[in-house]
Amino acid sequence: MRLPSSLTTRLALAYGLATAAILASVAAYLSSALSAQLEGRDESELVGEVLLVRHLLREVRSEAEIRADTHRFADIAMGHEGLILVVRTRQGEPLVTLNPRNETVPPLRVLPATTQPEKGMLQTWRPKNGVPSRGIAALGQLGDSDKAVEIVVLRDAGYRVALIREYRHQLLWATLCGAAVAAGLGFALARRALRPLRRMAADAAAVTTSRLATRLDVGSAPAELRELAAALNDMLARLQDSFSRLSEFSADLAHDFRTPISNLIGQTQVTLAQSRKSAEYEALLESNLEEYERLARMIENMLFLARADHAQVALDVRTLDAREELDKMAEYFEAVAADREVVLTVSGSAPVEADQTLLRRAVTNLLDNALRHAPAGSTVRVDVARAPTAAGTGTGGATGTSIRVSNPGPAIPPETLPHIFGRFYRADPSRRNSAASTGLGLAIVDTIMRLHGGSVTVRSVDGLTVFTLQFPAEPVPMSLPSAPAAVS
Ligand SMILES: Nc1ncnc2c1ncn2[C@@H]1O[C@H](COP(=O)(O)OP(=O)(O)OP(=O)(O)O)[C@@H](O)[C@H]1O
Ligand SMILES: [Mg+2]
Repeated sequence: MRLPSSLTTRLALAYGLATAAILASVAAYLSSALSAQLEGRDESELVGEVLLVRHLLREVRSEAEIRADTHRFADIAMGHEGLILVVRTRQGEPLVTLNPRNETVPPLRVLPATTQPEKGMLQTWRPKNGVPSRGIAALGQLGDSDKAVEIVVLRDAGYRVALIREYRHQLLWATLCGAAVAAGLGFALARRALRPLRRMAADAAAVTTSRLATRLDVGSAPAELRELAAALNDMLARLQDSFSRLSEFSADLAHDFRTPISNLIGQTQVTLAQSRKSAEYEALLESNLEEYERLARMIENMLFLARADHAQVALDVRTLDAREELDKMAEYFEAVAADREVVLTVSGSAPVEADQTLLRRAVTNLLDNALRHAPAGSTVRVDVARAPTAAGTGTGGATGTSIRVSNPGPAIPPETLPHIFGRFYRADPSRRNSAASTGLGLAIVDTIMRLHGGSVTVRSVDGLTVFTLQFPAEPVPMSLPSAPAAVS
């Protein structure tokens, strides 16, 4: 059987059933107590009747006297419903008979006149197809003589059974009515008690993307619902945060795509306005190519970040020789460094647990930035070393690998430091429209490090900017996106 889906109905049913169970057990107790009480009273009455008849017999001297005044004896049984009284001679000749329904008087064992009748001496008579009856037979002495007559007092249980049946009937109705009233009251009470839940549902229903700042009222919620309200509020806060980041991100995205595209349109329109020499067309195409490349790089970077956000970047983590990797990259950047009159040095050595492609990509982004921001004649240093991981700072803890890329140059303003790992963020506004910059480099570095279960930190003071990549001893897959990169 399926339970009703409404909590109110379930509670009302539970109240009704519980009340019915309680009332039914009370009713069962009451009816059995009444039955026992009636039976006990019946037995006392039967014994009492014998004693009374014996008492009356003491006042008569002969059987004839009894016959002459049967009413005296019959009166004793008056008012006792269903009672049969027979006084007869020892030969069985009836003297007094009070048996309105003319029922068969069973043969009972007769107590001697000297025996005081007691409840325990009552005998039960079970006719084949009838109601059992209880009775007692005893001898009663006439006056002071030693003549005695037989007294039989008998009563069938029929009237008692009927009485109990009627009583049980009434109790059954009372139980049913009580259960129905309890269910009704339970329904009303449950509805009332669940009101805060309905209010909470209404508040939650009012939350829309434009009203994500709405919070449920935890203070006025009942204690049992406070935890739920707080959890829902936390969820709303997380949703609001993700939603606003997503909105900002798409606004930035639109802005960053618009610039190169309007550059392309503008340049092309100007060139097409009149016929030009082929050298001019060539220059336009070259300039356009630069913008196309920037757009392609941006799309590729965006795709990487989107895939990482959805944990679709499969890492191929191996133990790599970090020094070897860094030397290769330094070689790759040699020409750019020479162009900028910057010296690039690599020092230290350590193995690193990383995905080769992603490691290269992270270091490339850092070197690209460092070489761009280092003044001519300065040195960009790359250091690799074993370093205790956050989890292994204690004695004997695991050691990971740190790669530090440092360059002299104007320090990044402290207020912009927390933002540089954000997507499309450039600290220098003049770079916003630069064809060389997408503002995604550090966001990618941060994502790569989190994919490895490591971190990227930045320190920029006294004309020296240092980015540190911290690789853990054993990469732990991290859920993305999480906390932003740390700033020290
Ligand atoms: N070594 C550095 N020295 C000074 N400022 C830096 C350095 N590295 C990054 N920045 C600042 O942080 C900003 C974000 O860097 P990020 O690498 O994310 O973007 P970008 O270099 O402008 O563009 P992209 O790397 O996508 O071509 C940069 O615009 C720059 O202002
Ligand atoms: Mg960069």
